Amino acid sequence: MPRNPPNAGAKYNAVAMSLHWLIAALIVTNILIAWYFNTLNGPTKVPPIQLHKSIGITVLILSVARLAWRFISPPPPLPASVTGWQRAAAHVTYVLFYVIMLGLPLSGWAMVSASQLIKVYPITLYGVIPWPTLEPLAQLPHDQMKSAHKALLLTHGLLGKLTYGLIVLHVGAALRHLILLRDDVVARMVPFLRSPST
Ligand code: HEM
Repeated sequence: MPRNPPNAGAKYNAVAMSLHWLIAALIVTNILIAWYFNTLNGPTKVPPIQLHKSIGITVLILSVARLAWRFISPPPPLPASVTGWQRAAAHVTYVLFYVIMLGLPLSGWAMVSASQLIKVYPITLYGVIPWPTLEPLAQLPHDQMKSAHKALLLTHGLLGKLTYGLIVLHVGAALRHLILLRDDVVARMVPFLRSPST
């Protein structure tokens, strides 16, 4: 009988790891930028909001790539030591992360499209590449546009709050695996971390 289970030490590949860490860094940066521009008033808000839009659309593009890559190259299985409710909780968290990785940028894009301000401040990625407006929203009659904007602002804010919760859960679970359980879970996603079971 082998000493370790067959998939012991299996890691995500370089593409999956790069996308994971890049998307994570951009989401945290965008949250910090949102906190910052929420402290400002008037025209000083515009440059950080424009940067927030660019980073958000970048997250959308990278998240679509990440999802496509997940189908092309499925993730390594969780270690056999992760069972029952922990396995179910991990899967629910992954699904919710995809909901926010796609839902936050899409709701932001839709929200700014449903606003007269988009004509003055169009989305231009990093001040260079023009990004389209969602025309069906931009063409709405005034009253409908106002209600759509209000609903999308609420959605964007609620998804932001869901993100805070998920980050706390995800980082907390990672630290538990790394420090208390000392199993292979975290090493699967960290390039230079050796798996304890190998
Ligand atoms: C990674 C993606 C994104 C994250 C993590 C994110 C996060 C946030 C957060 C936390 C807020 C503050 C909400 C609040 O005050 O309760 C916010 C506000 C905002 N976001 Fe995003 N967002 C993202 C993508 C986008 C995109 C793609 C756009 C537009 C193209 C956008 C446009 C805005 C705008 C205009 C506001 C200010 C809303 C207002 O107070 O009037 N966001 N975002």
